[in-house]
Amino acid sequence: MSASPSNGGGQLRPLIPEEKIRARIAEIGAQIRRDFGDRTVTCVCVLKGSFIFAADLIRAIGGDVRCEFLGVSSYQGGTQSTGVVKITKDLSSPIEGQDVIIVEDIIDTGLTLHYLLEMLSVRHPKSLSVCTLLDKPANREVEMEADYVGFSIPDEFVVGYGLDLAELYRNLPYVAVYTP
Ligand code: IMP
Ligand code: MG
Repeated sequence: MSASPSNGGGQLRPLIPEEKIRARIAEIGAQIRRDFGDRTVTCVCVLKGSFIFAADLIRAIGGDVRCEFLGVSSYQGGTQSTGVVKITKDLSSPIEGQDVIIVEDIIDTGLTLHYLLEMLSVRHPKSLSVCTLLDKPANREVEMEADYVGFSIPDEFVVGYGLDLAELYRNLPYVAVYTP
């Protein structure tokens, strides 16, 4: 039995180490708390990719934080965004009047987030912002800028810290570039 995931024939090259992720999340959490003062913040964790990031982020925000989950499937097992977003699980309660932050793992083409912003804004939150761990600005198909960005990365396929390739590698504690 091996403690590291098999590489499925591809190569994993470490890109962002655990300590850097931890330090950056502490900064973002503090920034969010400063921006929202003592208000309750509703974090919408976009499943599955952002569940590990969201778990660390909500603890870094501190104060009153609600946590909601939104199940989204954007690409059917491959490495290319199809632009077709399927909601696999909706929020469990209304967000009307709340300060909502969408917590994403990565923004690539921007299509998923574009869809989610439209979907959630019609529910009349008090405010709606976006926090993403990773940003790949080179690959945008729609204009999209997050309010909080962990790391801007080059246009490469990454896995780990919640991000997957065909459901594998989410359990890597760091972010790595995957090359087939
Ligand atoms: P977008 O719609 O192209 O912006 O893609 C958003 C979603 O695609 C993210 O929430 C991820 O789930 C997935 N995604 C985009 N780039 C990567 C990557 O490099 N590795 C793993 N998943 C990715
Ligand atoms: Mg995702």
